[in-house]
Amino acid sequence: MNHLYDFLVIGSGLAGLAYALKVAEYGKVAIVTKTSLDHTNTSYAQGGIATVMYEPDHIDKHIKDTIIAGDGLCNREIVEMVVRDGPRQIEQLINWGMDFDRDSAGRFDLAREGGHSEKRILHHKDNTGFEIQNTLSKIVRSHPNIDIYENFFAIEIITQHHMGKLIKRYFPDIECYGAYVLDPETGIIHKFLSRITMMATGGIGNLYHITTNPLIATGDGVAMVYRAKGIIDHMEFVQFHPTSLYNPGERPNFLITEAVRGSGAVFRNHKGEDFMKRYDERGSLAPRDIVARAVDNEMKTSGDEFVFLDCRHLGDIDLEQHFPTIFEKCKSLGIDMANDLIPVVPAAHYMCGGIRVDVNGCTSIQRLYAAGETIYSGLHGANRLASNSLLESMVYADRSALHSLQAVNDYGIQEKIPDWNDEGTAHTEEMVLITQNFKEVQQIFSYYVGIVRSNLRLKRAMDRLAIIYNETEELFVKSKLSIKLCELRNMINVGYLIIKEAQQRKESRGLHYTLDYQHKNPINNSDT
Ligand code: FAD
Ligand code: SIN
Repeated sequence: MNHLYDFLVIGSGLAGLAYALKVAEYGKVAIVTKTSLDHTNTSYAQGGIATVMYEPDHIDKHIKDTIIAGDGLCNREIVEMVVRDGPRQIEQLINWGMDFDRDSAGRFDLAREGGHSEKRILHHKDNTGFEIQNTLSKIVRSHPNIDIYENFFAIEIITQHHMGKLIKRYFPDIECYGAYVLDPETGIIHKFLSRITMMATGGIGNLYHITTNPLIATGDGVAMVYRAKGIIDHMEFVQFHPTSLYNPGERPNFLITEAVRGSGAVFRNHKGEDFMKRYDERGSLAPRDIVARAVDNEMKTSGDEFVFLDCRHLGDIDLEQHFPTIFEKCKSLGIDMANDLIPVVPAAHYMCGGIRVDVNGCTSIQRLYAAGETIYSGLHGANRLASNSLLESMVYADRSALHSLQAVNDYGIQEKIPDWNDEGTAHTEEMVLITQNFKEVQQIFSYYVGIVRSNLRLKRAMDRLAIIYNETEELFVKSKLSIKLCELRNMINVGYLIIKEAQQRKESRGLHYTLDYQHKNPINNSDT
């Protein structure tokens, strides 16, 4: 079945919806999203959006903090562009109806998070992402130029490859004509044909057993673009959040926002020690890579399964008022935030690498843009500064929209695309073949490609992954497609890229910390 659109947007988080709203004034838009419109990482964001608002904060300080966190691999030009654009993007969100918390004088109530030298996080209590998603979803749902396809799963982007032409990575003339999309309810694979496609498929957290990311985060966009011979970058930099709630059996892990530490909470180990000062003079508010590693080390040396977050000394802060969602969650588990220690554990949280884009959100494939967590823009370098990702999503949705609108009339819709070929395939008889490999991938990544790595662990991970890759490819060619099978295949592709790039990086830097290379390679700095 053919669907013809000016713009095809894959993904309905902040990046996808912001882009859709901007281009919808100029053409017909399809948003394809694999579950419901609101089931996104965006909805889970707690802390808020980092942007410079008032003195003593200054754009230069935000730029500097971003670059320090990025540990030598940020692209300074991109950092400057994104940070400078922050206030304008906040204005755009407010114009769409977003409500950020203000103090009694009407000024934004700014929070602080790890690695930030000033208070600069705009937020809506502790559920900022939920509010943003709600705000944009409402407008998108009533927009006459936007059609929404919920529970539709993009399988592959369409290129000249599907018209029988040989294409190779680094070919400059690869073009994207849309995507093959599975409707799992009917089993029909639709062709969405578009002048321009936007990839906004979010993160990869589900490669790991412990993650803050909802189930949708399986790296589909990165995998699709990689298979289409697009360029992917910096995949070794997976960010772990140091404070997810320790609650065995719950998935995804519930996040305790860094803003709680920004309000003064500190880590403690089981002996009651405020251990972070031993690792970094910035203590519990050091950048996330340093804190996650310290927590990991405390857990490994003590054998404990978690450490604690301590808010008990924050008597002058109304925790229930500031952090209502977290307060309620803790209460539901019998933890009183004001009087009890909160058990926490690091969890896979954010992918700093991804589909390489230029300053306008253009990927290496013509007619294909990308925005949000799925991209590598150069902003985050080796470690993302907290709350810079919602900002990056807004900025790249905006830049991609501007560029798309200039380019869209140059492209026609390519209608000579063959149907998806599933000849000779049958329904998978044993789902266990898929579910068990899914679990194995998560085990491999959690144990061998986690916060601390080594050459031996990476090799082991690659060897194990190769077996699962072969089994899954074999299944893929003979099976009627299901979402779980496609996601597994995508996770394997993304996993391969993470391990390969980690093996190639012969140093410890930012989020990539390996026992074999303790020191950064000073020649490798690109932000100085
Ligand atoms: P998402 O919001 O994840 O949306 C991805 C979309 O793509 C979804 O709609 C999904 O269904 C769709 N999709 C994926 N694959 C397919 C496919 N094959 N076919 C069809 N659709 C597909 N960042 C901050 O800046 N500040 C914060 O305070 C903050 N807190 C966070 C807290 C948590 C618990 C988490 C998990 C993340 C947090 N982040 C935060 C990170 C931030 O939320 C994300 O990076 C950002 O929201 C990503 O937006 P996105 O639009 O790129 O992706
Ligand atoms: C948090 O609220 O701690 C998450 C912020 C982020 O990941 O940017």
